[in-house]
Amino acid sequence: MSKEVRIVANWKMNKTIEEATDFISKLPEDIKVVSIAVPSTALYTCAQMKPPMLSLGAQNIHSETHGPFTGEISADMVKDAGAEFVILGHSERRHTFNETNEFVNKKVKQALLTDLQVILCIGETHTERDAEQTTEVLKKQLFEGLFELNMEQLKQVSIAYEPVWAIGTGQAATAQMAQETHFILRNLIKEKWGELASEKMFILHGGSIKPENIAELTSQPDVDGVLVGGAALDPSTFSQIIQNAGNAKK
Ligand code: PGA
Repeated sequence: MSKEVRIVANWKMNKTIEEATDFISKLPEDIKVVSIAVPSTALYTCAQMKPPMLSLGAQNIHSETHGPFTGEISADMVKDAGAEFVILGHSERRHTFNETNEFVNKKVKQALLTDLQVILCIGETHTERDAEQTTEVLKKQLFEGLFELNMEQLKQVSIAYEPVWAIGTGQAATAQMAQETHFILRNLIKEKWGELASEKMFILHGGSIKPENIAELTSQPDVDGVLVGGAALDPSTFSQIIQNAGNAKK
């Protein structure tokens, strides 16, 4: 099943409101559909000035709707500010903030109840890959992260496979390695939710994506798009990524 290549930017903890709006104003006017997960502080202002083809998202939410959770932000709040999707389970949240699969699953359910689309990030560490535990680790993150979702809810979810060792290191997975792992993921989805769901599911790739490697990665049959961090902070590099992805032949 051929799909339009999906491009999602993850700005992480970067950009003030002014920097964010400046970036958006520099995107080409005829931009194809792209998504940017901006800092929550910039969501509302960016939503007021963004072109229609750009969808905005948040980088995290809490699993509860409201209450005594100092410093946290709810699904309702980011939705109200203009988010259409949320990134959940990013490796920085798993490893720096000790988020478990169970907690990620609660957030996924809360996001879907609030009508936010979900990008669930999964990925193995270097040690896990070396120990040949990649499939086992990904299966656990996938099945536990999406525990108890029904088929309708699953339609609102995309997966971002980001090997932890490739994030922010400049060492992207090779296209062959990416394809092998995405193929495994596609089969895990098929095993759990059936063939149609596995074909329809967007499986994005992340970790040191840049203009030079995007075409080869997105030309792999099971790589449906990308999640871009560092290279999405500069408008001209990001535009190059969009352009080069468009040149990739599926
Ligand atoms: P990177 O980050 O592109 O800077 O490696 C990707 C991510 O963490 O989503």
